[in-house]
Amino acid sequence: MFNVAVIGSGTMGNGIAHVFAQHGFPVALIDINQPALDKALGTIGKNLDRQVTKGSLTADDKAATLGRLTPYTTLADGVRNAQLVVEAATENIDLKLKIFRDLDQHAPQDAILASNTSSISITQIAAVTQRPAQVIGMHFMNPVPVMQLVEVIRGYATSDAVTTQVMDLARQLSKTPVEVNDYPGFVANRILMPMINEAIYTLFEGVAGVAEIDTVMKLGMAHPMGPLQLADFIGLDVCLAILKVLHEGLGNPKYAPCPLLVNMVAAGRLGVKSGEGFYSWG
Ligand code: CAA
Repeated sequence: MFNVAVIGSGTMGNGIAHVFAQHGFPVALIDINQPALDKALGTIGKNLDRQVTKGSLTADDKAATLGRLTPYTTLADGVRNAQLVVEAATENIDLKLKIFRDLDQHAPQDAILASNTSSISITQIAAVTQRPAQVIGMHFMNPVPVMQLVEVIRGYATSDAVTTQVMDLARQLSKTPVEVNDYPGFVANRILMPMINEAIYTLFEGVAGVAEIDTVMKLGMAHPMGPLQLADFIGLDVCLAILKVLHEGLGNPKYAPCPLLVNMVAAGRLGVKSGEGFYSWG
């Protein structure tokens, strides 16, 4: 079993740590402060409880999963023995580039360095390291313990061997990996975000209300949740940032973010995390 280190203990980071630990991997979970790590371990415990209640996991499996997780507040200590690092820090390019420079210095030379980025170029991240062939995208979907997909993104220099290893690791998590190339938004967000943006335009132009738009897509297209509710879950700031990457990176006006989305983000209406988005989440 690979030694895994996960950087960032937020929603994605704790979900990624959860699935690796549940599938037998020793996991170092790294964040900058202890309260964040305590909160993440609490969340993982609650999500494991759901699985125990549903009967998909035993109480012993839960205890063993938690036993495989070790929290660290310093990156250098947490990645010292890692064979795979999955970075799931905030979606900020300067922060990610700094983390990858640090990883290159502190992780073993043969370790694979993966990013869970939803839209930042893997090629650009890889270029700040001395091992671009070992840098790859491992994009999990939220909620990580539930969603089957891992989008595996090959940067310009990612080797075949590393891609094969990461595809195999995703299968060991009982997930389905899909290999894609490194272009803006990869595949998932290149297709998802224009749909969300179009739903926001449909609202902006007064074609229909929030509940109506979501009901059309839920009941008409069998989506588990409507695009406006999904945008609230993802975070409107994250949706806006990804649309900007698509717009700038592909140079096509069809990706221009809807002015209503821009305004909502400027007003601090970010969806579930701020309590208000297209819906109230009080
Ligand atoms: N951990 C463990 N299990 C969880 C869980 C978690 N965090 N969240 C939900 N579950 C489990 C539940 O226990 C339940 O299990 P059973 O099927 O065994 O009963 C199952 O998941 C379904 O949950 P619920 O019954 O509570 O709720 P639901 O039926 O409404 O489903 C949902 C919830 C799975 C989130 C569903 O609404 C859904 O699929 N939504 C869309 C999710 C989506 O599109 N994700 C991708 C977002 S985009 C992204 O992540 C990438 C990006 O870059 C922006």
